[in-house]
Amino acid sequence: MSIMSKSSTTSAASPAIIARGLRKLFKHKDIGDTVAVDKLDLNVPRGICFGLLGPNGAGKTTTLRMLLGTMPPSSGSLEILGLTMPDDERRVRAKLGIVPQADNLDPDLSVIQNLRVYASFFGLPRQNLEAHLEQLLAFANLSDRRDHQVESLSGGMKRRLTLARALINTPELVVLDEPTTGLDPQARHTLWNRLEELKAQGTTLLLTTHYMDEAERLCDELVVMDHGRVLDQGSPQALIARHVEPWVIEIRHAAHAAERYTCLNHAGKLEQHGSSLFLYTPDRHHALAQIEALAPTLGALPILLQRPAGLEDVFLRLTGRDLREGA
Ligand SMILES: Nc1ncnc2c1ncn2[C@@H]1O[C@H](COP(=O)(O)OP(=O)(O)O)[C@@H](O)[C@H]1O
Ligand SMILES: [Mg+2]
Repeated sequence: MSIMSKSSTTSAASPAIIARGLRKLFKHKDIGDTVAVDKLDLNVPRGICFGLLGPNGAGKTTTLRMLLGTMPPSSGSLEILGLTMPDDERRVRAKLGIVPQADNLDPDLSVIQNLRVYASFFGLPRQNLEAHLEQLLAFANLSDRRDHQVESLSGGMKRRLTLARALINTPELVVLDEPTTGLDPQARHTLWNRLEELKAQGTTLLLTTHYMDEAERLCDELVVMDHGRVLDQGSPQALIARHVEPWVIEIRHAAHAAERYTCLNHAGKLEQHGSSLFLYTPDRHHALAQIEALAPTLGALPILLQRPAGLEDVFLRLTGRDLREGA
């Protein structure tokens, strides 16, 4: 079922987002100025899911705020859906859907009432409105909750209602700030599924996330940012290929005897994290053989976990491994 009527006509149009030299400076009297976003260039084509990734304080939310027009940039230029910000802000807003990080639904109203109130903000014509709302409910798997109070919904249901609400104006671009933070695995999968369907219908998605599996699964392209700057940009596969060796072998509980493993540096890159050693390698069979060859010197073979390298490895390599406050 398609709930998007406009999207098919937009794919050949201007990019969803063009940012040039976008900069945001926060002035502080006491501690000096913070450059939250530093000369950011973005070019987001239509019809894809674009991800903004970065550790806490990287500048993701500030970037989103500037894109949404809720915070003026200190400098730089911004075009959204072929319109210029902030001059065309009202027209841009009419084409945007927003899923904020914290659900700001009205808890005292029912599911359908929340949608109706939001529809009235957009001044949507009454004709066919109820049918449109029912379609949105069905899309969000909430038809059977139609008349329930929002208060009684689970976290996943609230997120899906927030998404349904964001789709009320049939937006060309939907911006989602950490859409699945705090959801259980099942609720995350259901939401991913809805986002994949939206994308299949031609809607452009822009999301921030802390979850690498989410970014890897949903995003066609993403930027990894830190300290307000883009560290790299590309598809998840391209970023993985560019920054890390294809395989990771985790050697559990081996960090205390790390010196016994240093010869593995010939088979890949050996790194220590917590109590484990991680061997990043282009040839896992060779690397495993090397580890097995060490067995006589180790007493017993350590526990080994092997997996393909992923976006998390890229993220850690690009942004450093120190844990940030609040991360
Ligand atoms: N309203 C504000 N006033 C002052 N500093 C801010 C404000 N908002 C964000 N910052 C600072 O800008 C930087 C980027 O923050 P933010 O965009 O929230 O990062 P992220 O969303 O990636 O965690 C941080 O150093 C943060 O402290
Ligand atoms: Mg943030």
